[in-house]
Amino acid sequence: MIERLRQPPRQREFDDPDERSTPVPRGLAALAAALVAWGAWYITTLEGTADPSLGDRRTVAALAAATAPGGGSDGGQLFASKCAACHQASGTGVAGVFPPLAGSAWVTGSPTRLVQILLHGIQGPLDVNGVTYNGLMPPWKSLRDDEIAALATYVRTSWGNGADAVFTATVAEQRAATAGRTTPWGGGAELATVP
Ligand code: HEC
Repeated sequence: MIERLRQPPRQREFDDPDERSTPVPRGLAALAAALVAWGAWYITTLEGTADPSLGDRRTVAALAAATAPGGGSDGGQLFASKCAACHQASGTGVAGVFPPLAGSAWVTGSPTRLVQILLHGIQGPLDVNGVTYNGLMPPWKSLRDDEIAALATYVRTSWGNGADAVFTATVAEQRAATAGRTTPWGGGAELATVP
């Protein structure tokens, strides 16, 4: 310091501050930019459903489909708007015309067969709780997988029915397995062949 004061006035001056023109040291800025670029590369090249032994890399969508039957769709509301007109809100149907869903083995039995009934409908003689029906159950394949899962879960768990939930993934599998089908199931005889 004393050394400096002995110098002529101009050399005594300190350098002008440069914080305003370069607030962040260039090296640090370059390092931060490199980290951001590496992060972007890492995220975009990350495989969502890679080998689980490398850690849990399942995506949120995959987990939601596997854990939430119907993935958030409201089965009760869908039933009221799509099915209750024929099968009645009480699930008892209309004697001789629309079969009951309450206590029906088609509903509480195989979940995959129930999904097939909902996807493609039924046309042909069908025994429900000891009564033979021969009407037309419309196909519902225009509904989303999660909606059909929610509906199936709703009918399996309402009006005293105590069957387990149906998952969206099951509906997706069943839809893919019968993608080529354009006609309804031909009544109880053909449905008996559906696992
Ligand atoms: C237009 C009237 C109608 C609508 C709407 C309808 N169904 Fe049906 N459903 C029928 C008829 C009729 C049968 C019997 C078909 C037969 O006799 O071959 C049936 C049969 C069924 C069966 C198998 C038999 C039983 O009683 O267990 C299930 C399960 C079923 N329907 C569920 C549903 C669900 C869930 C919905 C709403 C997405 C729905 N249906 C909408 C008329 C309807």
